Amino acid sequence: MNVTLSSTAVPRVLVVDPNAPSPAAIAEAAAVLARGGLVAFPTETVYGLGARGIVADDVKKIFAAKERPAGHPLILHVVGEEMAKTYASSWSLRASRLARAFWPGPLTLVVPRASSVPNEATGGLPSVGLRAPKHAVAQALIRAANVPLAAPSANAHMHVSPTTAAHVVRSLGDRVDLVLDAGPCTHGIESTVVDVTGDVPRVLRAGAATLEMLRDVEPSIVYDAAAVTVKGDAARASPGMASKHYAPRAKVVVSAEGVAIVEAILSATAGGARVGVIAWSSQARDAFRTHAGAFGELPFVAMLPEDPAGFARALFAAFYDADEAKVDVLVVEDVPREEAWYAVADRLRRATSPA
Ligand code: TXA
Ligand code: MG
Repeated sequence: MNVTLSSTAVPRVLVVDPNAPSPAAIAEAAAVLARGGLVAFPTETVYGLGARGIVADDVKKIFAAKERPAGHPLILHVVGEEMAKTYASSWSLRASRLARAFWPGPLTLVVPRASSVPNEATGGLPSVGLRAPKHAVAQALIRAANVPLAAPSANAHMHVSPTTAAHVVRSLGDRVDLVLDAGPCTHGIESTVVDVTGDVPRVLRAGAATLEMLRDVEPSIVYDAAAVTVKGDAARASPGMASKHYAPRAKVVVSAEGVAIVEAILSATAGGARVGVIAWSSQARDAFRTHAGAFGELPFVAMLPEDPAGFARALFAAFYDADEAKVDVLVVEDVPREEAWYAVADRLRRATSPA
């Protein structure tokens, strides 16, 4: 499947200080938005592809640039609870509690939407996803634009979310008018999406805010990975393709934890494919070293941190790097079936090509 767009032209990229972006750079980016353009900007999770979220024509440009089917709701980025309330038709105590505990930060709240939010931004849903990012560049840009910024991850549809400006350029080329480059993202995985429109708060997408942290604030919170995937599929325009998301160009094969990785590498290399490896456990590392002679030199090998947050921070960059190394098959060591790994496990599942 073609997930990288054909355009090779490079957009304008402005390097900014992640903690104190220059007012001139922010003003230039805000001017692009004010003309109805698209600006890719860093957040603490991943880079976003931003447009003015309350201008329907601007929001449409996001869908065109990503080749994202209409009907996928976008997140509106705000500076805080006060601004968020403006775009919600009601703001529950629960929304308030969660916003106060996690904002600014990697939590998206799905709430009933105000009429000022265009249909295009919510995929026609009666709700809207709102998030106040922690990144100083994102905050400065929202303030300068003076409107909420609709921003999905700044990658082509179904491709991997970018965690650096270089990833944005590789995935979108000049389909974005300007990229603000503030270096790599802190979390490297998307925000946790929580629906607070119902009786119980429900996690729709596991992400950088962990279930453990959420449960401290909302003990009744529900996360059902299987239901989320199925429900997600049903809501998507192209069934069958829907659970595949966040995928590199290489075919991803998830192998069991530990020494099993050797078997997976051997069978992947047997057909003559260019094979890459992403692993994290010391067992996998030792087995890989011991048996390296059996499969010879591989074009891409990444040993990622063995804690879930460290693994998450590095995973998408490893996907981009494997594609740069022109890997055909990417063998990824599976992660533990533990709650702290749910967000990562979800992304690995979605990166795995259906047969
Ligand atoms: O970390 C992030 O969330 C990044 C940065 C840029 O903020 N953004 C991001 O956006 O990942 P995107 O469009 O790639 O993912 C948005 C997620 C999707 O899973 C979408 O279904 C969900 O949020 N979402 C947004 N609005 C929703 C709504 N009204 N109801 C249900 N789900 C919603
Ligand atoms: Mg995305």
